[in-house]
Amino acid sequence: MRMLLVEDDADQRQLLAQLLGNYELVLAASVAEAQPHLGKVDLVLSDWKLGDGDGLMLLRAAQRLSQSPAFVMMTAYGTISHAVDAMRQGADDYLSKPFSRQELELTLEKVSRAQRLKTDNQRLSQALADQHKLTEIIGNSAAMQQLQSRLARISDTDATVLIEGESGTGKELAARALHQLSRRAQKPFVAINCGAIPEALAESELFGADKGAYTGATQAKTGKFEAASTGTLFLDEIGELPLVLQSKLLRVLQEGKVTRLGEHQERSIDVRIIAATNRDLKAEVQAGRFREDLFYRLNVVPLTLPPLRERRDDIPALCRHFLALYARRHGLNPPALGHGLLEKLMSHHWPGNVRELANRMERLVLLGEDMPISPLGEGASEFSVKLPAGGLDWEAFERHCLEKALALNGGNKRQTARYLSLGYKALLYRLEKHGLS
Ligand SMILES: Nc1ncnc2c1ncn2[C@@H]1O[C@H](COP(=O)(O)OP(=O)(O)OP(=O)(O)O)[C@@H](O)[C@H]1O
Ligand SMILES: [Mg+2]
Repeated sequence: MRMLLVEDDADQRQLLAQLLGNYELVLAASVAEAQPHLGKVDLVLSDWKLGDGDGLMLLRAAQRLSQSPAFVMMTAYGTISHAVDAMRQGADDYLSKPFSRQELELTLEKVSRAQRLKTDNQRLSQALADQHKLTEIIGNSAAMQQLQSRLARISDTDATVLIEGESGTGKELAARALHQLSRRAQKPFVAINCGAIPEALAESELFGADKGAYTGATQAKTGKFEAASTGTLFLDEIGELPLVLQSKLLRVLQEGKVTRLGEHQERSIDVRIIAATNRDLKAEVQAGRFREDLFYRLNVVPLTLPPLRERRDDIPALCRHFLALYARRHGLNPPALGHGLLEKLMSHHWPGNVRELANRMERLVLLGEDMPISPLGEGASEFSVKLPAGGLDWEAFERHCLEKALALNGGNKRQTARYLSLGYKALLYRLEKHGLS
């Protein structure tokens, strides 16, 4: 504990300093001398009467600080009204002179303990606030408002949720928010990326394995389902799950029980499932790459995260949010967002959605550079499609693109044709072919 001792009488200051040998001490003889130290100590022990003012002036100054130190006022014999004043103004305690060494120690101990609790408390609520910020969904556009109210409605149920949306639109964020809003919030949130686990290991990752169940299994392994017990299991990139595992997953979901690889014993599970994908799962079903029964099992409550280009209104708020976030993280000042830049940002195509915007803002904070941004329309050459290794159903893909393009252009066919760089007739022909006209 750092303590500031303010006493104008040199002898008394000396005496007290000796008694307070356990503290990291700063000595001051006047208000002016004490003032600059107020923000750097945990505790102030001040005399009432000071040459250039009184202890109350210091008390008030201390209380204006964001992290105010504890304050103990010393008052002279027969001036109990000063003590009352000090306590009314928020001093933590007082000592009326003359006081014994024991009184001094007891008072300071009590006040230090309370101060420590206060600091711990502030730190904890800050950490909690930061945690909440991690799942704070920014955006006030109509689409986001609808999403928020949906999240609130379903958060407190155990209903399975399927989140669809392009890459970087905030699917994982929405999943975490759902968990945080639910009564499972204090229980584990376990995420597994179904696209990132090798097929051979996927089963043991998900459901666990007994010791020796497969080569290399030197220890029994807890699967993600068990790890998420009583909490939420987030099955990310569910569209990438191999067909064999899709059947196993379906069985687990239907029966509410898992069996570790190499074991016979069934374990009951209590997990809330949230799945996410950036594929169009329905199209995957049609193409025979995703089990229809599993799709329906997961798609109890569908949530679709709209791409950023369909909710441009949210861009300014998101920019401000990320500039402040990264400035704080890197200990830098957030740069101003000029009108010209904001205009460019708002008309950008954003193929990488919110993640791309976040990266841009981080670079802006770090480099202060106004980097080139391609305006809307140049997006056409920017897309990248991940082709599935197992082959591609061209007709289904074309139909999918047509549907998406139509939706994007509000069903307006001329606009859709321009968007696809197709002639109007060529578009109509294709729509006809897929029964979309
Ligand atoms: N509405 C939002 N408000 C604040 N931050 C957001 C929002 N949407 C996304 N983000 C942030 O953008 C980044 C990408 O979001 P997230 O990881 O949830 O996307 P995703 O849809 O899961 O992407 P992918 O398909 O690539 O996995 C994260 O850092 C997330 O916190
Ligand atoms: Mg994700």
